[in-house]
Amino acid sequence: MSVVPVLSARLAAASVAAFGLTVDPELRAATKPEFGHFQTSLALRLAKQLEQSPREIAEQLVAHADLGDLGRLEIAGPGFVNVTLLPGTLADGVNNPIHGRPGAGKRVVVDYSQPNVAKQMHVGHLRSTVIGDALCNVLAYAGYVVVRQNHVGDWGTQFGMMVEQLLAEGIPAERLDLEEMQQLYQRSRRHFDSDPAFADLSRRRVVLLQSGDFETRGIWQQLVDISLAEFDRVYAMLGSPLTQADVVGESAYNADLPAIVDELQAAGLLTESNGAQCAFLPGFTGRDGSPLPVIVRKSDGGFGYSATDLAAVRHRVRDLHADRTVYVVDHRQTLHFQQIFALARAANWLPETTTAEHVAFGTVLGPDGRPFKTRDGGTVYLVSLLDAAVARAAALLADRDGIDRDAVAAAVGIGAIKYADLSSDRTNDYVFDLDRMVAMTGNTGPYLQYAHARLTRLLAKAGTSDSKVTTLDDPAEQRLALLLAGFDAAVLQVAETLQPHRLCTYLYDVATALSAFYESCPVLTSEGETRTSRLALCGATRAVLHDGLTLLGMTAPDAM
Ligand code: ARG
Repeated sequence: MSVVPVLSARLAAASVAAFGLTVDPELRAATKPEFGHFQTSLALRLAKQLEQSPREIAEQLVAHADLGDLGRLEIAGPGFVNVTLLPGTLADGVNNPIHGRPGAGKRVVVDYSQPNVAKQMHVGHLRSTVIGDALCNVLAYAGYVVVRQNHVGDWGTQFGMMVEQLLAEGIPAERLDLEEMQQLYQRSRRHFDSDPAFADLSRRRVVLLQSGDFETRGIWQQLVDISLAEFDRVYAMLGSPLTQADVVGESAYNADLPAIVDELQAAGLLTESNGAQCAFLPGFTGRDGSPLPVIVRKSDGGFGYSATDLAAVRHRVRDLHADRTVYVVDHRQTLHFQQIFALARAANWLPETTTAEHVAFGTVLGPDGRPFKTRDGGTVYLVSLLDAAVARAAALLADRDGIDRDAVAAAVGIGAIKYADLSSDRTNDYVFDLDRMVAMTGNTGPYLQYAHARLTRLLAKAGTSDSKVTTLDDPAEQRLALLLAGFDAAVLQVAETLQPHRLCTYLYDVATALSAFYESCPVLTSEGETRTSRLALCGATRAVLHDGLTLLGMTAPDAM
């Protein structure tokens, strides 16, 4: 068991014994080494209620607290109680890292990445893929059975236009690559807008597609297959475990859509509005106070994005047995998901026992602070960014010998992008700045990878086998040990909050504490038990950095 809950329980028991009050001591990490390791302001909080001075209360708390051999207590300032752990307790936390599994026996469905067929992946898809991968890893660590769902955009009226355009031009679909498909889409759009006869044909083509017409489906399937193969290439470059087995695109729900409308109708949740079937939910109004509907079926009889998402929720709960559903999608879709979750609950497709969370994220900005675009205003393609990052890393590593330079450049370049994406609160926008991302100093991926590689080299030099931490005399080694013991808690907190930046901050704190440790504690040149124990501490730090980076979806090279 981790030490913080034990300490909290002991202090809470002291409060019961002294004052008959059950309270949470709300232990915080100490702000300075001279304050020990943890601090509580419990006495200050109780002072009013008990009408005694905080110091008197603190004294009684200390008198009644039994920490055994975990640590000792000290009163400071106006009545803070400081906790200093004994070296044995600190060593124990490092030597016996626990692995809590609060998700054991539960299933979580994670909807992420979600690129669109016939379009290149862009930076928005990068964010969803990187955040989604990290969350899947963390949730699996927490014990969940993780089910990935890549909700690819492979359905809709645009495919009617594209198929019709291909037939009009007499181009076989299998000749196209993603870039050419994107151009085909633009040509079909212009054609649709300027030629009413073509527009009519396209609309009819959509009906053919949805009703399963053999030729139409065949052409559409080719567009899908070519796109998915290109997505696979990007996933491989990114080191994402996503495969085509995780793809459950919008089209997969086509056959369920009439039932979605029927069930909502039967539940009395639909209203006809201008020929469309709409759900008006309490609490959803626009700025002017007018109700905001969910359009389940459009006036032309077609189904849209919302109907598909409703079918997806139903499928995930009913067939995939989700206890928790997670959607990693940019913040512009916040209202959409609020409405989908509310309507799905009203329809009983999403029971109270299943949580639904929209993991929203901000926009990637260019150097000018505006949404990232190419110089001529076009979309920035994900592949070009990945190529650029790997090239930059390769240039930085050009003079290094004795390493597999290509592999390390890929690990560093891709890792730099991922870490930059994950390390700030995901709801914030961030500027895509490759120079800052690949920097070897500061809170960056390469800095952490380097800390890991340096430890690997040190341990190899020492030729150590796995020893245990026994002595911890220096405050710098104590601080490092305290942090290492918090690894499990840091990861589990991310599984709960779905905020990967907390794990990044934690790992950066570890790397910073490691530098301070190097400064004041010689390792290879120390002797006896001190040397053995410090090597064990280095081994534990290396494991934490390695496991933490792996959970974030990054590679931790042994040398760089
Ligand atoms: N394909 C969509 C896009 O690129 C995102 C889909 C999000 N997932 C969902 N279940 N709606 O914007």
